Amino acid sequence: MHHLNFTVSPEQLDQSKLKMADGSVTWQSPSNIALIKYWGKYGFQLPRNPSISFTLSQSHTTTKVEYLYKSEESHADPIRLFFHDEESPKFLKKIEHFFSSIVEFFPFIPHLNFTIFSENSFPHSAGIASSASSMSALALCLCSIERELMGTLQDEEAFFHKASFIARIGSGSACRSVYPGLAMWGMHDQVKESSQEYAIPYYEGVDPVFLTFRDAVLIVDGEEKSVSSRAGHALMEDNIFAPVRYEQAENHLLTLAESLKKGDLVNFGNIVEEEALSLHALMMTSKPSYLLMKPATLEIINRLRSWRSKTNIPAYFTLDAGPNVHLLYPQSFTREVETFIKEQLLSLCEDGRWIRDYVGKGPVRLA
Ligand code: DP6
Repeated sequence: MHHLNFTVSPEQLDQSKLKMADGSVTWQSPSNIALIKYWGKYGFQLPRNPSISFTLSQSHTTTKVEYLYKSEESHADPIRLFFHDEESPKFLKKIEHFFSSIVEFFPFIPHLNFTIFSENSFPHSAGIASSASSMSALALCLCSIERELMGTLQDEEAFFHKASFIARIGSGSACRSVYPGLAMWGMHDQVKESSQEYAIPYYEGVDPVFLTFRDAVLIVDGEEKSVSSRAGHALMEDNIFAPVRYEQAENHLLTLAESLKKGDLVNFGNIVEEEALSLHALMMTSKPSYLLMKPATLEIINRLRSWRSKTNIPAYFTLDAGPNVHLLYPQSFTREVETFIKEQLLSLCEDGRWIRDYVGKGPVRLA
């Protein structure tokens, strides 16, 4: 089954229970870094190709959602949003739009007032995409509220499939953040359980070395990027390389799956670096063309490759839709890699900034 029906009919709502609704739920959910990149989408947030990511740990969002039954006479704003304790009209608009697009999956939404408190563990200007952690945290909160008010989603697998499905509607990459270790999103005919609608856990059968991986995020530029991911996805529709790109991603997924299973670090690294550069090549060949890499991005890549060829240490780079470099390597090489970072790379980072992250255990419910 590739498609589960996540729709809930309003008749399933227990009116007396709804009128008593008064509670709160808190989830902490991490960011993720894609190994095979999602780039290009269609329809209702469906990916043009399958993707795989490492779930991270230190970069996360904590979201608390308070909910209260909204009486007919209530004039209160249906949603209030606090980001780091400040009301944020910009994020509120996004959340209002998001909530109105998921009413068919959560029929209680129109009957409740929500107060949302959200905080990121990473600084705003770290150039770290917060949509994956924030949208997954919010989706998890909504699924917990559904469980509470409707008694549904008792089954763990069903709970996380729906959380992933809802997170995807908020931001594609967010659907991969709800699982520990590794997650895969998008259909591939060689992966039976895979789905366009939600991500699936992908750590089973993966060589344990990958679950020890670290991600050193080298901050080349913390500014908000000049072209949003949303606009970037849209430009794929007229990119002449799009069809071969989608084919490349499908092939990479298969060869990466092999490497993950075998613990083949060299092949893993080759694919991951090729994915990062393909993503940026697509940006450069969009119409209009744009470039998100900075001179320091390229210099870091060059220094890494030359250090790697001298030391044979399996440390590889990947890039998001931005200039910052993610350096991925097994935990057993932490000392060597961190010395290399300090001696050769930090001078290329904005104010010498970097973040130590690592493959994590997935989201946790805090309250
Ligand atoms: C380059 O998930 O941010 O990070 O679905 O429009 O919210 P929307 O896009 P988004 O795109 C992420 C693209 C990427 C690759 C990836 O994470 O797979």
